[in-house]
Amino acid sequence: MQIVILNNSDDVASYGANIFIQQLRRKPSSVLGLATGSTPLALYRLLIGANQVGDVSFAQATSFNLDEYLGLDGQHKQSYRYFMDQQLFDHIDIDKQRTFVPPGDASDPIEACERYERQIAQAGGIDIQLLGIGRNGHIGFNEPSSGLMSRTRVKTLTKATIEDNARFFSADEYQPHLSITMGIGTILDAKKVLLLATGANKAAAIKATVEGALSASCPASALQLHRNAMLVLDEAAASQL
Ligand code: GLP
Repeated sequence: MQIVILNNSDDVASYGANIFIQQLRRKPSSVLGLATGSTPLALYRLLIGANQVGDVSFAQATSFNLDEYLGLDGQHKQSYRYFMDQQLFDHIDIDKQRTFVPPGDASDPIEACERYERQIAQAGGIDIQLLGIGRNGHIGFNEPSSGLMSRTRVKTLTKATIEDNARFFSADEYQPHLSITMGIGTILDAKKVLLLATGANKAAAIKATVEGALSASCPASALQLHRNAMLVLDEAAASQL
């Protein structure tokens, strides 16, 4: 694992955005693995800016998101499809037909998971996968105890993750307890993995990822197995290393 420690979250976002821009310049038809959560937001804003001034194009790119809440359709404001449209896709020149998010409204979720894996394979595999990390070390919605070789599947969210993400839901709003997520094996198949973490509340998870044992109790520790994984951290997230 390559570890890059930068002063603050702005530097993390620009470092990460630059890696995406270089990737797209090198290979305009790149297959991008994308993530939700608050961590990638600043990076997405930088990619939008770069796209709008013509520094980078997504016109030939394809994207696959890590995960989605099961039970929410793409119109739902809390769905990750809605999030991606709002935060990135609606502001760049990507062909929306080539932006994939697991279908939270699938009538047959198990079949939908298998189809998602096939779609990734048909696109030629993911060139670069962006990741955030949960406080409990989850990546995507691969919660602790997820199989290290797991593929896209339905996962129950832990109480900790439900509580962490409750801030996005209003008090009277239904918050799903199930998700569809790429598996850890799916993530490890990406040619390059770029995990961003900022803030002191991620420091323990980062320590377990980098210095802990390879273990399903910290799903992100599986990145120790990846040949081309990079962690870009601010000082606070790196403070326990
Ligand atoms: C969610 C997402 C993860 C994300 C995590 C951390 O659970 N499924 O992909 O990494 O939240 O989110 P944040 O960046 O807001 O801390």
